[in-house]
Amino acid sequence: AVERTLVLVKPDGVRRGLVGEVLRRLEAKGYTLVALDLRVPDAELLRAHYAEHEGKPFFGPLVEFMGSGPVAAVVVEGQRVIEAFRAMAGATDPTAAAPGTIRGDLGRDWGTAATQNIVHGSDSPASAQREIALWFPHL
Ligand code: CMP
Repeated sequence: AVERTLVLVKPDGVRRGLVGEVLRRLEAKGYTLVALDLRVPDAELLRAHYAEHEGKPFFGPLVEFMGSGPVAAVVVEGQRVIEAFRAMAGATDPTAAAPGTIRGDLGRDWGTAATQNIVHGSDSPASAQREIALWFPHL
C-alpha cells in the first residue's frame, strides 16, 4: 500500500551538513517528499514523540540532544516506504549499522548518552500516523 512515514534528520545530521544527502537518497530511490520543515523542536513535542521511551535511562539525554539544534522533519510517501526507510537508515547503533545504510555509511559512536544516529524513521503505520500528526498537525 502507499504509505507515509516521518523522517527526521536529527541535530547531529543537520550540523554535519547531511540533510541533502538524506533527501538525495530518498529521491534517488523514487519516493515523494510531501512536507519539509526545519525547526528546533520544543521539549513538549519531543516528549510526546518519544513517549514510548519515557523512563529509560537515555530518555532525558535524548530529549536534550534532539532539542539541541534544528531538525529537518520530512514526510515521505510511497509504496512500503516505512519499511524501505528503516532499511535505508540501518540499525539504531551506528557502529553495528551495515555499510550502505545512512547510519552505516555516515554515522559513528561519539560516546554520548543519547545515541546520535543522524536520522529517525517511523517504525510502523500506527507510529507514522501518530508522529506525522505531532510534527505536521495541518497534514
Ligand atoms: P530513534 O530511531 O529516533 O528512536 C529512539 C532514539 O533513542 C534512537 O533513535 C537513538 O537516538 C536513541 N537510543 C536508542 N537506544 C539507545 C540507547 N540504548 N542508548 C542511548 N540512546 C538510544
